[in-house]
Amino acid sequence: MVSTLHSTSTVVLKRVLSQPEVTSYLDLLRHHHKESYSHSMRVGFLSIDLGLDERLADEDLLLLGSAGLLHDIGKTKIPTTILAKRGQLDAQERTLMDEHPVHGFNLLEALPDPRIRQIVIAHHEYKPSPYPREGVERRDSARDVMDRRRSDSMITSLAQLVAVADLYDALASRRYYKPALPKPQIEQLLRTQFKGNQKYITAVLRR
Ligand SMILES: [Fe+2]
Ligand SMILES: [Fe+2]
Repeated sequence: MVSTLHSTSTVVLKRVLSQPEVTSYLDLLRHHHKESYSHSMRVGFLSIDLGLDERLADEDLLLLGSAGLLHDIGKTKIPTTILAKRGQLDAQERTLMDEHPVHGFNLLEALPDPRIRQIVIAHHEYKPSPYPREGVERRDSARDVMDRRRSDSMITSLAQLVAVADLYDALASRRYYKPALPKPQIEQLLRTQFKGNQKYITAVLRR
């Protein structure tokens, strides 16, 4: 059963990666910061895997996979000295880093499907201190999109799937500033750091 699921996720991932508009953005990220690119590939795959568990329709799986792969595309606007810093970011660096969902939203303006950027801008909104929700007042176009997104339950669900996949991968992978964490610690941290639908935590921990 697991292998069937796995191969199906792989098939969907291949379909997502057959879209030149997605791969051209991913190439930008790969050239800017390899670790962010690898993380994005894992988050894209994991998002699709979770979406298959949710029995999403094909169109929604493609949308979810595209958004998962591109969720951190805004990091192409963040200096690599910050992305690759060993140790915690200082306040100024943290402010710059927290801009990446909005950078992603702006970068993806040319995509034919606007829902991808609606999910991308929301991928850090399900934390105890969500962003950019609290700092978006000055960004009219982003605010308009976020208002529309909140009224769309499918977009909200897909954004939560990307968000939980993103958090899981961040905790399960070694980073410059932390080791890969064991599953019990991942579960504990997800329970405190993910404020979306808690059933997605149970789903992601089955991986
Ligand atoms: Fe992010
Ligand atoms: Fe991420």
